Amino acid sequence: MRTIAVITSGGDAPGMNAAVRAVTRMALFHGLKVIGIRRGYFGMIHNDMFELYSGSVGDIIHRGGTILKTARSPEFKTPEGRATALENLRAHGIEGLVVIGGDGSFRGALELENLGVNTVCIPCTIDNDIGGTDQTIGFDTAVNTAVDAINKIRDTATSHERTFVIEVMGRNAGFLALHAGLAGGAESILIPEVDTNLDDVCRRIMDGHIRGKSHSIIVVAEGFGGEPVAGRDAEESAGFKVCKYIRQKTGFDTRVTILGHIQRGGYPTVVDRILATRLGARAVEALLEGEHGVVVGMQNNELTLTPIEEVLANKKTVSDEFCRLANILA
Ligand code: ADP
Ligand code: F6P
Repeated sequence: MRTIAVITSGGDAPGMNAAVRAVTRMALFHGLKVIGIRRGYFGMIHNDMFELYSGSVGDIIHRGGTILKTARSPEFKTPEGRATALENLRAHGIEGLVVIGGDGSFRGALELENLGVNTVCIPCTIDNDIGGTDQTIGFDTAVNTAVDAINKIRDTATSHERTFVIEVMGRNAGFLALHAGLAGGAESILIPEVDTNLDDVCRRIMDGHIRGKSHSIIVVAEGFGGEPVAGRDAEESAGFKVCKYIRQKTGFDTRVTILGHIQRGGYPTVVDRILATRLGARAVEALLEGEHGVVVGMQNNELTLTPIEEVLANKKTVSDEFCRLANILA
């Protein structure tokens, strides 16, 4: 193998740059030529590729976002789009591909793998909803960002004696809400995986009031109550609807804060930088060992390789222990 390419695809996540850096530098260390493809599969179809050198990935380990840019490419979901992408990969002599992204990006990677492109995937999404790894790159940073916001909202909630509903991202998964809610000491955590009766949430808030608790923090996953529609208006969000319900039912002064894309940005935490560095380096070494069609992960602090099909077929589930703790400690 002489030339490999790297893309970042789907929603960006803090640590993507650290992964691009590790892939590039490990590949250069092994004497490979490295091609960066801009805007994920969109750039693959539109032939937007450039060579990466050691200096190209300097000064990025601490930066959020992705220097390669990212995009969603409906064209790549068509056989014609993929055929054009394949032609461009071949024209550049690309023999191995590293895909950094979420499960949608992995579906695209599997299509390329089935077309004969040796592909290795790196799980990178704030949603943490990918199997084959205990944690995805970006999740730790997003949880910390959300907890920081909860801490700040708690200050004003206690001062004004208000109930606050805080909506966090996560698409259809409740990992982000569960971790942020537990670490932020939320009174209730509402996630798509657990059927929660809003009347019980209101009762809990009112019981708290009787005991002298004059403020409450309710963390809601954006996917609670149904799949979140990308780009929806605030009124259509889970947080807004929960807030309205609680306000009407309890009569308490209730406000909603939708954290939104702030959770996708910012300096990656040390946890995400190290994870991205280890997974990025392992992805290149896997390709060199002749491994492909796999997802690189970290399970029980061991680097692992799992077939892409297996990862896509087995969604990660939220921990029962965490759900139990959230219920008891709130
Ligand atoms: P994420 O990787 O964060 O889950 P998306 O679901 O938006 O993000 O997927 C990113 C891109 O991966 C899509 O825009 C598309 O180009 C490609 N992709 C997603 N699903 C498929 C699929 N079933 N077949 C081929 N490509 C896909
Ligand atoms: O997958 C990452 C994510 O941030 C989800 O948590 C969220 O539902 C979605 O992407 C938002 O997508 P967009 O940036 O297109 O609004």
